[in-house]
This record gives sequence, C-alpha cells and structure tokens, in this order.
Amino acid sequence: MKTGIITGCSRGIGFATVDLLTENENMKIIGTSTTGNCAITKSNFECFPLNLSKSKSINDFANLIGNTKIDFLVNNAGILLENWNESAINLEYLRQTFNVNLFGTIELTEKLIPNFNKNGQIINITSDWGSFSEKNFDEFQPHYKMSKAALNMYTKLLAKRLENQNIIVSSFDPGWTQTDMGGTDATRKPQEVANDIKNLLSNIPESGNFWHQGKIRAW
Ligand SMILES: NC(=O)c1ccc[n+]([C@@H]2O[C@H](COP(=O)([O-])OP(=O)(O)OC[C@H]3O[C@@H](n4cnc5c(N)ncnc54)[C@H](OP(=O)(O)O)[C@@H]3O)[C@@H](O)[C@H]2O)c1
Repeated sequence: MKTGIITGCSRGIGFATVDLLTENENMKIIGTSTTGNCAITKSNFECFPLNLSKSKSINDFANLIGNTKIDFLVNNAGILLENWNESAINLEYLRQTFNVNLFGTIELTEKLIPNFNKNGQIINITSDWGSFSEKNFDEFQPHYKMSKAALNMYTKLLAKRLENQNIIVSSFDPGWTQTDMGGTDATRKPQEVANDIKNLLSNIPESGNFWHQGKIRAW
C-alpha cells in the first residue's frame, strides 16, 4: 500500500492524476482543493481543504495528516493570474502568485518532510515557463514565470538537502495542457500528463532533475 498527497485535485491535471492513480487499489490518495471538494468518490481517496496562500490552512491540513506516513507529495496546485499577453509587473499579482506557487508550496512541503517513508518522492509541478533554457522565451506572464523558476531552484536545493534521507525531489513540466489554466487550444490532455506523473512515481528517478514526458529536460 502506498500513500500519497496531491494538491489541487478539484480539476485539471490534479483531478486527472487522482483519477488515474486511484485505479490502483493499493494506492491511497489524499487530495486537496481550496473548498475541500472534489468530484472523485472512491474508497481509496479523500479530499481535504487547503488554501496555500494561508498559513493557518496549511497548518490545519498538516494537523489532519498528523503522523501518517506518506510515499509521495505532488505539489500540483498553482495559479496563473495574469492575461497571457501581459508583461508589466503588478506587485499585487506577484505577491499573490508567489504566496500560492512558491511560499505556500514550500511551507506545506517543509511541514510534511518528517512524514516521508524511505524512497519517498516530492514532485513539484513547475512549467516550461519556469525554465531558463526555453528557445522561444518571451516577456509575458512574468509573475507566474518567476514563481515557477524559483520553485525549480527549491527542487534543486531540497534534492541536495534530502539526499541522505533517501527522499527524491523532482520538478515536472507538464507541457501545455487543456485545463482551466491552459485553455482549450492546449496540445496535451490532462490524462496524458497524469500518465507521465504516474510513470515518474513508479520509478526511483535520480533526484534533482526536471522532467518532461518521461525524459530529463534542461532547466
Ligand atoms: N495547464 C497547463 O498548460 C500547465 C502548463 C504548465 C504547468 N502547469 C502547472 O500544472 C499545475 C496544475 O495546473 P492546471 O492546469 O491543472 O490548473 P487548474 O485547472 O487551474 O487547477 C488548479 C488547481 O489548483 C488549486 N488551487 C488554486 N488556488 C489554490 C490555492 N490558493 N491553494 C490551494 N490550491 C489552489 C485549484 O483548486 P480550486 O478548484 O479549489 O480552486 C485546482 O485544483 C499548476 O501548478 C500549473 O502551474 C499547467
């Protein structure tokens, strides 16, 4: 029996990942959404409220988990506030985006580290928009891009820090995906991305890498 936590599973990539992983009865999944609601009803799945922009909500969730041992944490929940053609910095958007995509995600992760079993995995869902090596780099979505770039650095730092505890830390780039965030023109389906996450979880990958469609990609 493996137990894992997936944040942001009310819709999109998180929903598809929970739906796929819970097909395996030897898998117990704890999911989150801001309301605590998720349309998936399976005996090996429970959903709890978690708002990553609020420390109290993160504390309450961590208290609910208590001493439960976990095998993986998929930091999937995230927000994109700006319009796609927006390049100007809006400090309020920057703060809100960092609160969820970076600070809340890190606060939650740090609280859950003592719960991990050996060979546990932390997967930070970041983005090609958080990469420094993109060929078609442009000036748009600045708040989101900075938050995901910083989360990529957290992956690298945490991977080093947890080396001796046998906890594997990865960043994961889903690709442009058909969700509320990605829109309907996106090239990938959430189910395909869920399958990539399942494959990453099924292996014991080398820690501290950035994954896309089953391969290590450039940061
Ligand atoms: N879609 C893409 O093309 C794409 C590409 C690259 C990377 N990504 C990344 O993939 C991940 C999933 O994206 P998605 O496209 O599936 O997004 P989505 O459809 O917009 O779903 C976002 C999820 O995050 C949760 N969430 C939002 N605000 C939150 C908060 N303050 N605290 C806790 N949870 C919160 C939402 O819960 P509620 O329903 O309760 O609001 C929802 O479950 C994100 O990290 C995103 O940045 C997506």
